[in-house]
Amino acid sequence: MTNSLRIRLLWWLLVPLAIYVFVTGKAAYDNARHTADLVQENTLLASARMIAGEVEWSDGRLLVDIPPAALEVFASPQGDQVFYNVSVDDGRLLAGAPDFPTRKTSAAHDSPVFYDAAIHGKPIRAVGMVRQMYDNGAIRSVLVSIGKTQASRDAMLREIWRPQLVRQIEMVLLAVALTCIGLTFELRPLLKVKEEVMDRDPMQLEPLRVERMHTELRPIVEAINQCIARLGLQVAAQRRFIADAAHQLRTPLTLLETQLQFARQHREMEPTLSEALAAMQRSNRSMVGLTNKLLLLAQAEAADYTQLARQKVDLAAIAQDVIEDLAMFAQKHDINLGAELAESAWMIGHQGLLSALVHNVTENAIRYTQAGGHVTVAVARDETRVTLTVTDDGPGIPAEARSRVFEPFYRASADTEGTGLGLAIAKEIVQAHRGEIALTHREQPMRGVIFTATFGAL
Ligand SMILES: Nc1ncnc2c1ncn2[C@@H]1O[C@H](COP(=O)(O)OP(=O)(O)OP(=O)(O)O)[C@@H](O)[C@H]1O
Ligand SMILES: [Mg+2]
Repeated sequence: MTNSLRIRLLWWLLVPLAIYVFVTGKAAYDNARHTADLVQENTLLASARMIAGEVEWSDGRLLVDIPPAALEVFASPQGDQVFYNVSVDDGRLLAGAPDFPTRKTSAAHDSPVFYDAAIHGKPIRAVGMVRQMYDNGAIRSVLVSIGKTQASRDAMLREIWRPQLVRQIEMVLLAVALTCIGLTFELRPLLKVKEEVMDRDPMQLEPLRVERMHTELRPIVEAINQCIARLGLQVAAQRRFIADAAHQLRTPLTLLETQLQFARQHREMEPTLSEALAAMQRSNRSMVGLTNKLLLLAQAEAADYTQLARQKVDLAAIAQDVIEDLAMFAQKHDINLGAELAESAWMIGHQGLLSALVHNVTENAIRYTQAGGHVTVAVARDETRVTLTVTDDGPGIPAEARSRVFEPFYRASADTEGTGLGLAIAKEIVQAHRGEIALTHREQPMRGVIFTATFGAL
């Protein structure tokens, strides 16, 4: 059978209902037939009695005068045909059709006999009754038989039975319709759960709401929630591990940096050794950079808006600080670093994380733009939004790389140093602040990239 809950439930409802309708329909039909037969037989008998009452002796002969009323009782819109036969036991026909299929009743008691027969190829219901006639010691039995076609009886049967059947079928259809509508309504919470699960961000690990949920659905939702909770623990453990590992790495690396610096200060060293130490120091620095970025990424991923919500920060001031920090770096790269900052741009957020965001994006713009290029950091605010825009006139990002630059460890340019984590961190930070980050590519009037991050203003 199909797997649709709707169809299965309908089957459970329809099969017993069909059996019920069949059984009660059959009983109703039997009852209706019984009633119709009874009515028809009563009329037949009344008519036969009337005719029998008219049989009389006249000059030693039996005669009958058929009273019109005896046949009028059968008048019906269906136009039934009536046949009769009045005959004496010596074979003489007093009235009616000679070929009427009479049936002899026992002469002993003149109880009427009802039977089915056919005349002129038409089926009829008939009654036969005997009347004993006495005259001067002579006894004759007169058999009065009368029969009629079944049209009016069938019509009566239909009239009694059909409405009942129609009503029952209507009930079944109503039940099916109500069940379908009811199921559609009642299945809505299930679809809502589905939508809620589907629409989730991969890292949205809050439990699903169980209130206003059907009792039957609760165990499922609770099971999903338990699964989400376990997933949450797992994710938290993983983040903790990255943060711990980065933390642990940082100390020996910092120590190593100091030792290397100290060793290189001893000038009497052999030049090759000094070169080796310098190389070690470079790789050590890049390891320090990587660990710091991993730590920042873990921190950004773990940041929770509801916790951030208690802090107010001025993004314009943060951008100002970052620009000052990067001024030397820009100078070294011969980049014209400009700022277009609103007087203030208050929003909810984490000072350290937002500073890292502006830093990463601005550093990229400086690093990937050719010497002599321009980088502008702008912070604007309107009624509802605070917008950070970092624009450069560098070479831009190749089309095939644009959709991937936010992935961790993805780098579009292999010739420069970097971890590929900068934009992944930026994206996490923006998401933690419930903002939106976008990358726009410029071709005209000059090439370059525009990064935009938008947040809700205070
Ligand atoms: N303003 C830009 N102009 C051109 N290319 C860019 C720009 N910003 C980023 N990219 C490209 O996107 C890639 C990913 O940037 P991302 O900041 O994530 O990593 P990275 O700069 O390579 O390393 P990291 O920032 O961790 O030191 C870069 O390798 C670079 O090729
Ligand atoms: Mg970068």
